[in-house]
Amino acid sequence: MELFDVYPLFPINIVKGKGCHVWDDKGTEYLDLYGGHAVISIGHCHPHYVEMMTAQLNRLGFYSNSVKNCLQVELAHRLGHTCGYDDYALFLINSGAEANENAMKLASFHTGRKRVLSLQKAFHGRTSLAVEVTDNPKIVAPVNDSNHVVFLPINDLEAWEKELRKGDVACCIIECIQGVGGIRMVTPEFMQGLRRLCDESGTVLICDEIQCGYGRSGKFFAHQHLGIRPDLITVAKGIGNGFPMGALLIAPQFEAVYGRLGTTFGGNHLACTAALAVLDVIESEKLIENAARVGDYLIQTISGLNLPHVKEVRGRGLMIGIELDEPYKEYRHRLLFDEHCFTGCSGTNTLRILPPLCLSMEEAGLFVEKLKNVLI
Ligand SMILES: Cc1ncc(COP(=O)(O)O)c(C=O)c1O
Repeated sequence: MELFDVYPLFPINIVKGKGCHVWDDKGTEYLDLYGGHAVISIGHCHPHYVEMMTAQLNRLGFYSNSVKNCLQVELAHRLGHTCGYDDYALFLINSGAEANENAMKLASFHTGRKRVLSLQKAFHGRTSLAVEVTDNPKIVAPVNDSNHVVFLPINDLEAWEKELRKGDVACCIIECIQGVGGIRMVTPEFMQGLRRLCDESGTVLICDEIQCGYGRSGKFFAHQHLGIRPDLITVAKGIGNGFPMGALLIAPQFEAVYGRLGTTFGGNHLACTAALAVLDVIESEKLIENAARVGDYLIQTISGLNLPHVKEVRGRGLMIGIELDEPYKEYRHRLLFDEHCFTGCSGTNTLRILPPLCLSMEEAGLFVEKLKNVLI
């Protein structure tokens, strides 16, 4: 059997990682400014993570959600306290798409409504409703195209108000910093206005923090820069530092009904251990403060250098978009093959920088040098 060929692949076989560095099978070292799609939060192979995962695997890897799992309870308490949502409840699943799927399902159960409002250029995953609220017709199959969704412009409150006043919208789903959409940021004025309109119309406000959350923006959640509290918050990616995991944080007004939501693998013992190890390291190494500090340095430095081809530098913390005045393809290629540095991308012209949150000032400086080498 061959692999189903859906990924355009770089011909590099990564076999080892440490902190913000990875190595291929020929021993070449790469600086990782992408964290494997923003997944690596505390750094590759962090010793505390490896130790906790190994010990857990030696005790118990998995048992089902039909028995009490103390690790889930511990994670709920720890996460609630760390992110400032002690009064919310936690539901654990396996991926970002699944988190959004469950969030919108819960919003629909809660309101009895079917319509969803989403941002233009949004990306929320590839499963049925998650892909329908993703603004990319190329990945929406006919079976997913069920007319539930209207896409509206970012920061245009009037357009959102017009739809919300109809009184039939179940939820609005928002990435406060759009990832795949090109590091576009929602303003505090828009988000506070949207919160008010959702309250007035009985609509659920969902923040998708799958890429921009978990410390990446320099606060635990990106929406915490904007002065609002959503009703539902979805997370994945950084929560498990590579262990597949997603979560839904649920405000107190939502009723928990036996059997309404569920999953076989979600919240298993290994996943919870990964998430607890991640929280330990985020706290002990002050990684959120680090993301704010190093991210600020990168944004200021790259903007200030007036490098050729750089049109705009956008972002917060360690979620940065470098928009070029021409396609990124050749520059990203040279960063990888000449400078040995992984970066991400978005659209045709934007380099997307999403390193582990432990990126040091020295490593950030090294990246700036590599960027200069390919742009000048
Ligand atoms: C903002 C956002 N939401 C949802 C998803 C989907 O997550 P997953 O690939 O884990 O299903 C992604 C993945 O890139 C994302 O960036």
